[in-house]
Amino acid sequence: MDTAKICKAEVVSKFHDVEESWDDEFKRLKHFQACDSDIIVSTFPKCGTTWLKALTFSSLYRNQFAWDKNPLLTFGPHQLVRFLEYDLYLYNPFPDLQNVCVYQPRLLSTHLPYASLPTSIKDSNSKIVFICRNPLDMFISLWSFLYKLGDESLEPLSLDEAFDKFYHGIYAYGPFFDHVLGYWKASQENPNKILFLKYEDLKEDINSHLKNLAMFLGVPFTDDEEKQGVVEEIEKICSFENLKEVEVNKKGVHISGIPHTGFCRKGKVGDWSNYLTPFMVERLEKLIQEKMDSSGLTF
Ligand code: A3P
Repeated sequence: MDTAKICKAEVVSKFHDVEESWDDEFKRLKHFQACDSDIIVSTFPKCGTTWLKALTFSSLYRNQFAWDKNPLLTFGPHQLVRFLEYDLYLYNPFPDLQNVCVYQPRLLSTHLPYASLPTSIKDSNSKIVFICRNPLDMFISLWSFLYKLGDESLEPLSLDEAFDKFYHGIYAYGPFFDHVLGYWKASQENPNKILFLKYEDLKEDINSHLKNLAMFLGVPFTDDEEKQGVVEEIEKICSFENLKEVEVNKKGVHISGIPHTGFCRKGKVGDWSNYLTPFMVERLEKLIQEKMDSSGLTF
């Protein structure tokens, strides 16, 4: 079996079974030393990671390449912004980060819950950009993604089975609500370190959120850039419609063995209504209410 296949099986089985041990990866990740200037894109899977990677990459490095040579035209967002855990440190305690992070400051990503982040990320002045999404859409996106992966060694999960697991918080990277609330609370306590975004807000008004993102990253758009339409250019290149049509995203395969097409499906808000039964919706809405409680976070 080649490395990509092993990776893919590992990713898929982690989605299926949260009991699988993460110990080895955590041990390896301890070797990661965050720098004060690092930017970490952090998400729960299927909440808009691909989009956020593209937006962060393009905003942060916009002056480091000619516009018509934006690497997003040639590489997928997941090739440009690599995952710490199931990509860089999956088998290697000392990946060559200098080689991986071509541009400065370093831009990396993770799906780990806030509580499980390497301490150097929390203790340094590095910044975290987090995105979450309405759990109903996130769940449908994840379920569709697993189906698409179609790993031969595992039975595909039916919607009912997947729903049951999700409802009971059984998913890789921990229960969705704990994951999101961990970052939410940390961002409330330290808004200069963690920018908390919602997929739906970006869909509604990408322009102002992109400006806000650039400001947070310490690279605000200048008046000249705004006049020249740089913000709109970034919006366009990172849009679902554009990313989906880039050759590598149509045909390429991620280092984990997952086809890039798996990362761009519909890109819509409210797609859950095409799949979930009224009973499922009622249960999930009750759960959302219960879990969000007095946190101040709403979906
Ligand atoms: P759907 O499955 O609902 O279409 P992640 O990147 O965290 O894996 O999340 C994937 C979800 O984000 C998918 O949602 C995918 O279609 C959507 N997506 C990917 N690229 C996007 C983009 N540029 N703009 C908006 N949504 C995007």
